[in-house]
Amino acid sequence: MNIIKSRAWELPESAVTPESDFINRRRFLKAVGMGSGALLGNSIANGASWGFPSRLNENYKGEDLKPTDYDLIKGYNNFYEFTTDKGDVQKLANQGWETEPWEIEIKGLVENPMKLEVTDLLKKTDGIEQRIYRFRCVEAWSMVIPWDGFPLKKIIDLAQPKSDAKYIKFTTFYDPKNAPGQRRRTIDWPYVEGLTLEEASNDLAFMATGIYGKPILNQNGAPIRLVVPWKYGFKSIKSIVKIEFVKKQPLNTWQDLQPSEYGFYANVNPKVDHPRWSQASERVIGAGFFSSRQPTLMFNGYEEQVSYLYEGLDLRKNY
Ligand code: MTE
Repeated sequence: MNIIKSRAWELPESAVTPESDFINRRRFLKAVGMGSGALLGNSIANGASWGFPSRLNENYKGEDLKPTDYDLIKGYNNFYEFTTDKGDVQKLANQGWETEPWEIEIKGLVENPMKLEVTDLLKKTDGIEQRIYRFRCVEAWSMVIPWDGFPLKKIIDLAQPKSDAKYIKFTTFYDPKNAPGQRRRTIDWPYVEGLTLEEASNDLAFMATGIYGKPILNQNGAPIRLVVPWKYGFKSIKSIVKIEFVKKQPLNTWQDLQPSEYGFYANVNPKVDHPRWSQASERVIGAGFFSSRQPTLMFNGYEEQVSYLYEGLDLRKNY
């Protein structure tokens, strides 16, 4: 994340920009098709490998989207628990940090609180599916990612929120011994994010346990993370240990750090600029030097599915 210059954790967005061509569309379809997971899924010893191969959800197959090269998705990361250097996350998140076993807790204003191994949570869903989503970081770069996982709504249905539950607060692990970034007090760890219950119930809100038909890698938020494609990437919190149903709007990490720049909603919006840069367009990671920018779409292209959530809300004030 790119925040004010004098802060120690600030990384200029231009610092790490690996470029590579999009993979061939046909090769991609072959790779993520029904057969691929069979090759990869169960051979990987990862608790969250449950459910592979995933089935492609026809409603989210991203007809006009070219998925970003897997090497870029797993090599260009924001994961401040490890480092602010996008190119080093991959190495640091795979040096002793264990994501198996992984316990996750669902608690707060719910009828069915639970604390369980992530694999057991996955077994309570109806299997996993693949969806191809646009992914837009607040730093004005974008990717297209074939996620595997299940709708967040499944967790809401399992938890059975009480009537006074209005928001969901998500919390990432805290392990400074194995996550070097957490030894620096630059952020009030652990990383926290939140959604309104209504947003969380939208069909697009997704819990990812895989990418490209393979269990999600540590650097991408193993073993389970949130994906909210109509919001800036920082809302898509990684490596979740706690999902809490609450009455009040949670204070999310980036809002806490820099409230004038990052809000609670963080909806992708080309008309509302970041105080220090334009949000009207985005750099397409992997698109090559000459075709690297494209206009940013309202709600990242998901306006039809989500605009009802914000009717009557001033999006300039509620950024
Ligand atoms: N979740 C945690 N726990 N820590 C982080 O630093 N970074 C966020 C989001 N989730 C972050 C996080 C930001 S700014 C982005 S853009 C995406 O993760 C990046 O996800 P990716 O590395 O899988 O592309």
